[in-house]
Amino acid sequence: MSDSSDKNKETFGKTVGFVFIVCVVCAILVSFSAVQLKPLQVANKLLDQQTKILEASNLLEASGKDPKSIVATFNKYVEAKMIDLASGEFIEGDPVLFDERRNARDSEKSEKLENDPAGISRQSNDAVVYLVRNDAGAVETVVLPIVGSGLWDLMYGYVGLEADLNTIRSVVYSDHRETPGLGAEVMNPKWKALWPGKKIYNDSGEPVIKLVKGGAKAGDVHGVDALSGATLTSNGVTRTLQFWFSKQGYGPFIEKYLAANSNGGMK
Ligand SMILES: Cc1cc2nc3c(=O)[nH]c(=O)nc-3n(C[C@H](O)[C@H](O)[C@H](O)COP(=O)(O)O)c2cc1C
Repeated sequence: MSDSSDKNKETFGKTVGFVFIVCVVCAILVSFSAVQLKPLQVANKLLDQQTKILEASNLLEASGKDPKSIVATFNKYVEAKMIDLASGEFIEGDPVLFDERRNARDSEKSEKLENDPAGISRQSNDAVVYLVRNDAGAVETVVLPIVGSGLWDLMYGYVGLEADLNTIRSVVYSDHRETPGLGAEVMNPKWKALWPGKKIYNDSGEPVIKLVKGGAKAGDVHGVDALSGATLTSNGVTRTLQFWFSKQGYGPFIEKYLAANSNGGMK
């Protein structure tokens, strides 16, 4: 009688043992699901990126939004290429494996910026550019990734350019933490519709594209209405665009690309 009641008695050792087993089981379950879900997360991230790039090149509507047709359209029309930002040259490297955010934290793959209008602190040495071809095989849109500070955090997006690499087709933000109804209006289709046809560079080749508080004047090819009630985000967008299209950003690439394509050298 006293034997069996001793067996059922809770002891400190049994409680710790039980907690330990629960912890081990939970740890195994969490690691198992993390490992199992990783490929799905990677695939979803890639799909999201491809969707934004198609949107930036005006191909999303034609493609439709189901994942298979997005991947098929992307693979058919879009060529991703790595570039060295400082020289503007194409370089070897797998664009799918390239991770700008990881590179920007790595002191061997990025530069600390002295002049940092976009508020990014460090800039990856390399970037991926997306050449989007039409059915005849000619590059119709070049999509360039951008990143810069908004009010709350870094904002990531893409700029789609016509083949002159000056006329904007689209500005598509993909990832930001701005406030809904204020800075997050960068996602509003009505605001996005203000961009097509705007020009980045003035006649002297300076990137002068900007958001204008109170609204851009009719006929202002370099001005787009600022987001109302969100001057800080708007200023961030202006600084981001002017930075990325300067010599510190895609300037060298744009110069080389245009020079090579005017004599048919670069494909
Ligand atoms: C809770 C909260 C969230 C805000 N979010 C943003 C934002 O995302 N972007 C922004 O520019 N301003 C935001 N603001 C407003 C800014 O503090 C600032 O007032 C505004 O940018 C000024 O813009 P305006 O001159 O167009 O009114 C926020 C303010 C508050 C109180």
